[in-house]
Amino acid sequence: MIALVTGGAGFIGSHIAEHLVAAGHRVRVFDNFSAGKRANLSGIAGGQLEVIEADVRDAPRLEYHMAGCDVVFHQAAVVSVPYSVEHPQETHDVNLQGTMNVLFAAKRQGVKRIVFAGSAAVYGEDPELPKRETMRESPISPYGVEKLASELYLRTYEKLHGVESVTLRYFNVFGPRQDPRSPYSGVISILVDRALRNEAPTLFGDGNQSRDFVFVRDVVQANLLAATVPGVSGRVYNVGGGRRTTLNELVAMLGRVVGRTITPHHGPPRAGDIRDSLADIGRARTELGYEPRVTVEEGLAELVAHV
Ligand code: UD1
Repeated sequence: MIALVTGGAGFIGSHIAEHLVAAGHRVRVFDNFSAGKRANLSGIAGGQLEVIEADVRDAPRLEYHMAGCDVVFHQAAVVSVPYSVEHPQETHDVNLQGTMNVLFAAKRQGVKRIVFAGSAAVYGEDPELPKRETMRESPISPYGVEKLASELYLRTYEKLHGVESVTLRYFNVFGPRQDPRSPYSGVISILVDRALRNEAPTLFGDGNQSRDFVFVRDVVQANLLAATVPGVSGRVYNVGGGRRTTLNELVAMLGRVVGRTITPHHGPPRAGDIRDSLADIGRARTELGYEPRVTVEEGLAELVAHV
């Protein structure tokens, strides 16, 4: 197939692109390199990869490069929740208008399916766990609103115009190429970075908050299934590991991986944080055949070996 990966030079997008090329597909990476990096693509063999430096806000260019594509993996986004609170117009333009640009272009170009990087942020702070796709969404940030509105546009276009799409609501994704240097980085990338520098990490709060961490290779698996399984268009799926891990457990696991005890500092809890998160992945299992294969500790070991 020919696939366009928006945000294809980013953390998750570059893993999708790499996997597709390895499986013999032709890939167009569409990325403005605001967060993406050329180095993320350096391990991908040349011939089947085309890199387009452009922005999803640029609708004509997006449509131009979508011509002839079978599938679009729409990963491009400004991924920080706090940044969306500070810069809602910018994140609206990228995260919602960008999705609409993808959708309109895909419709006109006859793309067979869009796979959309949704987010667990659509669930908001309702403490009920595990999160199921049938629960009422109640986002509490512009980012969550943009991801939810994107889903709704995609689903509505499927009904109105038959444009096929699948939304994957990512939980806490981790793995190689996640940038630890931004204040908005995922906690695992920060913990690993500190451990390898022999610095103590800071846990915000008591460290007993928990998340559903999912290794990036399992997220790639979910994307490929979402692109190819018949009869799932218009559906929404949680993509997590289906288990939750506290930050204190993470620190202990990481200590085992690096072979020494890590003693974190504790700071005040971070404003706006939810306490716990856990995905019910039953729907993805049943309808897509998704099965997370990498445990958190295995993923941590692979990440440490990679850095
Ligand atoms: C994650 C997603 C976000 C998504 C949200 C949905 C990532 C990077 N972010 O945010 O895109 O919208 O889920 O629910 O996956 N922490 C520390 N020390 C640090 C950094 C973080 O203790 O140095 C703590 C945080 O306070 C939090 C936990 O680690 O309790 C996880 O934080 P983080 O990795 O930023 O992810 P989420 O806030 O869950």
